[in-house]
Amino acid sequence: MEFEKNILCIGAGYVGGPTMAVIAAKCPRYRIQVVDIDKERIEAWNSDHLPIFEPGLHDLVRKTRDKNLFFSSEVQRGIQDSGIIFVSVNTPTKTFGQGAGRAADLQYWEKTAREILSYSKSSKTVVEKSTLPVRTATAMERILNGNTRGMSFEVVSNPEFLAEGTAIQDLENPDRVLIGSRETPEGIKARKEIVEIYANWVPRERIIESNVWSSELSKLAANAFLAQRISSINSISALCERTEADIDEVAYAIGMDSRIGLRFLKASVGFGGSCFKKDILNLVYICENYGLEKVARYWQAVVEINDWQQSRFIQNMLANMFNTVAGKRLALFGFAFKANTGDTRESPAIYIAQGLIEERAQVVLSDPKALENAKKDLKKFEDQIIFEADPYRAAEGAHAIAILTEWDLYKTLDYDRIFDSMAQPSFIFDGRNILDHKRLFEIGFNVFAIGKSPLKHF
Ligand code: NAD
Ligand code: UGA
Repeated sequence: MEFEKNILCIGAGYVGGPTMAVIAAKCPRYRIQVVDIDKERIEAWNSDHLPIFEPGLHDLVRKTRDKNLFFSSEVQRGIQDSGIIFVSVNTPTKTFGQGAGRAADLQYWEKTAREILSYSKSSKTVVEKSTLPVRTATAMERILNGNTRGMSFEVVSNPEFLAEGTAIQDLENPDRVLIGSRETPEGIKARKEIVEIYANWVPRERIIESNVWSSELSKLAANAFLAQRISSINSISALCERTEADIDEVAYAIGMDSRIGLRFLKASVGFGGSCFKKDILNLVYICENYGLEKVARYWQAVVEINDWQQSRFIQNMLANMFNTVAGKRLALFGFAFKANTGDTRESPAIYIAQGLIEERAQVVLSDPKALENAKKDLKKFEDQIIFEADPYRAAEGAHAIAILTEWDLYKTLDYDRIFDSMAQPSFIFDGRNILDHKRLFEIGFNVFAIGKSPLKHF
């Protein structure tokens, strides 16, 4: 079969894999290749045990793989075959040199640009899918168009807004798709090529076209605004705990104002995930570079409140368990950074588990999907942790349970049975406000939730 377009995606991660699976499913006339330097990851994409867990992903991959969706580690061939190249490699926070701990580490990104240049035999459209500092397209263009082989490359920005756990849903039915380019005839032509791909299933009015800098910056700003809502509600949760106001009631009351809206106002133990913190720190760094100190400090505070919310959670556990957890078994329910994913990157659970281990607690970790990653994250403490997928067994003999991920499973457990198996007095710290606190108190638990008055039997 002759395919209408050959599309390549470099980077088969949480974004590259699901995004290309959806494009392949929606556009059977396009041939999509996804390449990665990580051979194990590619093997997993070609197996029945996909490298990431995402609801609906497996079905899509099964339907499209080896028909019009191909996973391979042949980067060179992929580049030569394709006219459109999405780049979806990781852009983590830099850990060394200038900007360490804040700036984006663009080494994988730049390496990809150089590979595209060295293997290409014809002109191409290169799409920034990774989240990048504003004005990265300039660097990309300079590298690519520095060639003397007569090829020209148009760089288009098409940031991804999917959230993990709902990636397939978000990709199939996005609030918007953003595509930015240079406002030159060539830039606009390249942008239209990308619009045409999405127009196969996204209503035209939800496809936004903009200049390339607006597109790059909108991605960083969107994540900063989302994270800011969580830090805002979490900051108010601390005040609720001192004033007998209830954070869920406050969130509802303010969210009913249509200008504020109800979504993303769930108080929690703090936000995690690979992107919020890194993207805000990157935004802070960029602002500082442009001499915008006040703007930088404003966004920095979003991260500071989030760090504080996590340390507050540990302090709260300690203070309420008679100022010591040494030698006490503590069951942590949930390790993923949010429900419906096995991803644990920047999960608050990592920080909380470490804090409790430092207090010499006997930590038991339970999670339906994230234990494999948890073992890697806490490798240096592995002798001090028990990993137990079954929450009932995890809670046996424990002094306390801390809910760290909002898995539905934890809402429907038999807490009478759990209470009977625990050390007394028993404590529950609900870091996600998902449980029926009144009922737990009636069972006999001492209950501590985020932004609520404690329910204590003494
Ligand atoms: P990831 O780490 O899961 O995947 C990136 C992949 O790129 C890795 O498998 C890595 O091996 C591969 N890679 C790196 N250099 C390569 C090279 N030179 N050639 C081929 N492959 C290479 O990362 P991710 O979570 O998919 O994120 C990718 C980008 O998308 C980041 O910029 C991130 O900020 C952004 N983003 C992520 C999400 C999310 O939910 N995870 C959502 C929106 C945007
Ligand atoms: C987030 C954004 O929602 C996506 O739009 C964006 O594409 C992505 O980052 C990215 O750039 O990586 P994600 O991190 O996958 O997606 O998941 P979210 O649903 O945003 O949750 C992030 C964290 O905030 C989780 O730890 C979650 O539990 C927490 N959260 C979320 C709250 O504590 N309260 C809320 O009300 C919402």
